[in-house]
Amino acid sequence: MSNQTLTITDNRTGKTYSVGIENGAIKATDLRQIKLAEADDPGLCTYDPGFMNTASCKSRITYIDGDKGVLEYRGYPIAQLAESCTFLEVAYLLYHGELPNEKQLTDWVNQITTHTILHENVKQFMTGFRYDAHPMGIFVSTVAALSTFYPEAKKINDKSVRMKQFYRLLAKVPTIAAFAYRHNIGMPYAYPDNDLSYTGNFLNMMFKKTETKYKPNKVMERALDILFILHADHEQNCSTNTMRSIGSAHTDPYSALAGAASALYGPLHGGANEAVLRMLREIGSVSKIPEFINRCKAGEVRLMGFGHRVYKNYDPRARIIKQTADEVFEVTGRNPLIDIAVELERIALNDDYFIKRKLYPNVDFYSGIIYEAMGLPSEMFTVMFAIPRTAGWLTHWEEMLDDEDQKIARPKQIYLGQGTRDLAPAARK
Ligand code: SDX
Repeated sequence: MSNQTLTITDNRTGKTYSVGIENGAIKATDLRQIKLAEADDPGLCTYDPGFMNTASCKSRITYIDGDKGVLEYRGYPIAQLAESCTFLEVAYLLYHGELPNEKQLTDWVNQITTHTILHENVKQFMTGFRYDAHPMGIFVSTVAALSTFYPEAKKINDKSVRMKQFYRLLAKVPTIAAFAYRHNIGMPYAYPDNDLSYTGNFLNMMFKKTETKYKPNKVMERALDILFILHADHEQNCSTNTMRSIGSAHTDPYSALAGAASALYGPLHGGANEAVLRMLREIGSVSKIPEFINRCKAGEVRLMGFGHRVYKNYDPRARIIKQTADEVFEVTGRNPLIDIAVELERIALNDDYFIKRKLYPNVDFYSGIIYEAMGLPSEMFTVMFAIPRTAGWLTHWEEMLDDEDQKIARPKQIYLGQGTRDLAPAARK
């Protein structure tokens, strides 16, 4: 008998079963053979709310070792990519599996640059929102609306059609984000400037005023590249799982990505960066940190930007973001909230409540402080997460569609509700 098997004894019947082990996992469907005598027994299944210990797919995109604080895109350590690449180079790596050569990168950037403009009707659609509409609500709705402008995107089995939607979405999400911001502040939309880099153009659309040509600050342009690289993908997180689940129904990528962005909007996920700034403001000063920590430990509040389902060590992205903050502050001036954040981290990392639960700063703990220093309102922080994660969501969507193991997502349940019963005659009135 191969040693790559699990022998299970069902103590209810005394029967034993052999289940294969592959890639450190057993197939949940192999448990169906474990039944009681009854003919209508469907056999055993697994129960795993929140997928604490369940693999939904095989993937070759991103690898995380939560205990060691390791994050690699297609095998490359995140620190090396953040140090040496641009975001569009990393988006190419995620999608194609290898870094681009010079010609491939030029073609890639040109393809994306030519799609930065939004249809004028999309712009009009966006003006329908209230001035104070949350930019994530505008982002999610506008991405979904794009599905009505590109009906060809429904041809999800056509690889060239999928590739074109990838270019369109990665090119347009910065434009949608910037237009949402300009709508919020009542400024006219600044159109894309295709002479600029991906992040330089985003700064242009966000902050251009009356100058004829916006000149992005090189330090901010580079800091955004690093932040976008760090947020580009993170294996099977909640929003990526949502992208895969909606995509498994063969929905078009715009509608699927709107769903993924909706998941990211949640405060336990990508909405945490906005919640961190609210938390730091609520704490208000270093002297108030102990009181806040006690409220955390009493279960009254969560230390937003701390903790992670996978990382039980320092999130490598948080470390890089913290380093990037100093470069940005050189240009923008120091954001005083960083002092509260650094002291909050120091105290938490030395407190048994957080140590015992292996709670460390995650990607959201410091990112908002940088975005605020760059002049972004906290409502825009999750949108800043959604822009680069578009590359990750679409790469996983592509991998899911090419995976022969995959089929429409439809989990089982454990039914504990009412047994069959008849409607009493009175109830029919
Ligand atoms: C992202 O999955 C990804 O990869 C996500 C992400 C990505 O790139 O896609 O990395 C981005 O979403 C980062 C996470 C941002 N969210 C936050 O910062 C919100 C605060 N963090 C938590 O809510 C929490 O840590 C989660 C949601 C991130 C993880 O939740 P889990 O794994 O389900 O853990 P849990 O809620 O079961 O907590 C385990 C224990 C509990 O205590 P006990 O019940 O055992 O006593 O740890 C405690 C929790 O109360 N805990 C916290 C805490 N996080 C967990 N206590 C205080 N503050 C926190 N932040």
